[in-house]
Amino acid sequence: MNMIEIITKKKLGQPLSREEITCFALGAADGSIPDYQLGAMLMAIRLNGMTPQETTDLTLAMRDSGDVCDLSAIPGVKVDKHSTGGVGDTTTLILAPLVAACGVPVAKMSGRGLGHTGGTLDKLESIPGLSVSLTEEQFVRQVNEIGLAVIGQTASLAPADKTLYALRDVTSTVDSLPLIASSIMSKKLASGADAIVLDVKTGSGALMETVDDAIALAGTMVDIGTLSGKPVRAIVTGMGQPLGTHIGNALEVKEAIDVLSGRTTGDLLEVSLLLGSHMLVVNGRADTVEAARALLLDALRSGAGLCKLRELIAAQGGDPSCVDDVSRLPRSAVIREVTVGREGYVARMDAEALGYAAQAMGAGRVQKTDVIDPSVGYVLHVRIGDHVVADTPLCTLYARSEADAARAEAAIRAAITTAEDPVSKPPLWYAIVTADGVERV
Ligand code: URA
Ligand code: CA
Repeated sequence: MNMIEIITKKKLGQPLSREEITCFALGAADGSIPDYQLGAMLMAIRLNGMTPQETTDLTLAMRDSGDVCDLSAIPGVKVDKHSTGGVGDTTTLILAPLVAACGVPVAKMSGRGLGHTGGTLDKLESIPGLSVSLTEEQFVRQVNEIGLAVIGQTASLAPADKTLYALRDVTSTVDSLPLIASSIMSKKLASGADAIVLDVKTGSGALMETVDDAIALAGTMVDIGTLSGKPVRAIVTGMGQPLGTHIGNALEVKEAIDVLSGRTTGDLLEVSLLLGSHMLVVNGRADTVEAARALLLDALRSGAGLCKLRELIAAQGGDPSCVDDVSRLPRSAVIREVTVGREGYVARMDAEALGYAAQAMGAGRVQKTDVIDPSVGYVLHVRIGDHVVADTPLCTLYARSEADAARAEAAIRAAITTAEDPVSKPPLWYAIVTADGVERV
């Protein structure tokens, strides 16, 4: 097949056949198509879009470009959850233990931080000793033994996406709905789960800033799931401010422990319960979202969820005593309290800028090879809608140095806007998208 002809067809806005799309994806995975042709093709897709059939064909071709994980040795309906990426978004560390404590197997492949967003693997690795590199056999055995495992994606999972994602980053083609949807879904379908719950973020810290764009992305991913025979549902949730109050790896683990211990409630717990409820429903463990929520709350209140987190940490080589004594998690050298300094209502938070503020402190990577400092980050003490005065605490900084703390303080201040008039709190979620359609809330 001739790659120039395939690029030409897409340039002219003509739909590609499955064979043409497969040729493109496999050529990306095995290196036989040069980067300049892949880049031209990505831009043609970015400008002319793809039909639902083309998007599904691309997803399946990328899935099949590498190994597809076989989880059939784990009995029951395996449900995965995936977030399009957020700030202070520690839902996995809360809902995975709660869902597992309800008897639903959780075989989770998670990601690392990217840009301003945090990643579950980086957070877990802040627990001394914990490893996220398990073989497929160890992964399956652990899920069968304790009902829960969280690992990194193997190099052989969707290699076409690996190549294309890296090229998109440098060819201004990340923001393409069919490319985002096929990228995420190829990896989710390759990870072997039977059903998938997607958390599609919207707002200042999300890939899709508007609700309508997020719903469109959610709909495309649900359609791919339906066309490939796997139940997928998506919840569009707000990322107009960090979801939790803690931003930074060990800090987010601490917050997850606080939530599972019943010490902390709020938006992070609510969104975790929402997504977890949908996981129980697609698994069949509960008939309704309300019944599922009650099961999760039982697991929270009885301490079964916290117990499951302790088991997960121990099974993956980590120090489980962190759960009972969070002071065993890495601690930063400098701790500084910052106050708001003015009166008003918190009106807007630029969640993307807040994510980059934590990244700059060392909580994320600026270059691929950077090593994360698990101890750094900050705890926010205000949320949108709060009334504040000059000496209201704004945040507590956990930094490597006074200079880092000063830089973070300036960035956080610049990312938070106050107004004179009262501001209402933003909704936690906006829509639920299933094969049956879109339900706006
Ligand atoms: N996450 C992915 O895995 N792929 C994208 O394209 C965007 C977010
Ligand atoms: Ca943004």
